[in-house]
Amino acid sequence: MNSQKVMVALDNMDRETMHGFLSTLPKECPWVKIGLEQYLSHGQDLVKEIQERYQKEIFLDLKLHDIPNTVAKALKGLKNLPIRFVTVHLSGGEAMLKAVQDIRNEHLPQVDILGVSFLTSLDHRDLNHLFGIEKDSIEDAFKRLFNLALTTETQGIVCSPFELSTVKACEKEAGRKLTKVTPGIRFQDEITGGKIGDQKRVLNPHEAFGEGADYLVMGRSLTQANDLQARIRELNS
Ligand code: C5P
Repeated sequence: MNSQKVMVALDNMDRETMHGFLSTLPKECPWVKIGLEQYLSHGQDLVKEIQERYQKEIFLDLKLHDIPNTVAKALKGLKNLPIRFVTVHLSGGEAMLKAVQDIRNEHLPQVDILGVSFLTSLDHRDLNHLFGIEKDSIEDAFKRLFNLALTTETQGIVCSPFELSTVKACEKEAGRKLTKVTPGIRFQDEITGGKIGDQKRVLNPHEAFGEGADYLVMGRSLTQANDLQARIRELNS
């Protein structure tokens, strides 16, 4: 069932709205994503509460990025939380990613680390301005980040559906696979009707799984759906 591999992003909701939504989210959707906004507003209690009350698997999307020692200690601070995935920035570099793996293996072996590449909010002009990356070498820059995930034994990555082919090429070369988690998803009727919001390039769920995504991150298409149960049936059809 595809809905078992969809992580529902609990963004832009106050606590009451979130509980209202979670009480309608069936067991066919066992995953939720909690982002920085909710975590900073409500803290670790919210994470525990969601897991205890709704028995959901939790992806905590904190996108940690700092010097190795600080990120490792921050990660250790999550060790008593019932989470399954947490994000760090791959651009934190090799030493940071290795420090993350050391702490993960010692204190949170049940948690898989997902690396984030460049933020999709940065376009080619930003990448050039910030890092001197020319437009025609952006793919190589992505490859270097994905290869860093592979060499540091990071468990997975977050990537757009349009980066999946690049990731697969890196995996093939390395002879190793990463867990691939993919946002930037809309249902086909939303794409056809131009309802993609602030996402610039999107694929529908079936296309993204077909491209090799292991999990999809979907927010508004589910949290603001007129008929959530119908959307879940659509995921599973
Ligand atoms: O509502 P929507 O489906 O666009 O939400 C997508 C979720 O995925 C949001 O939580 C957003 O922060 C996250 N995300 C993204 N693009 C990325 C990384 C994360 O949309 N490159």
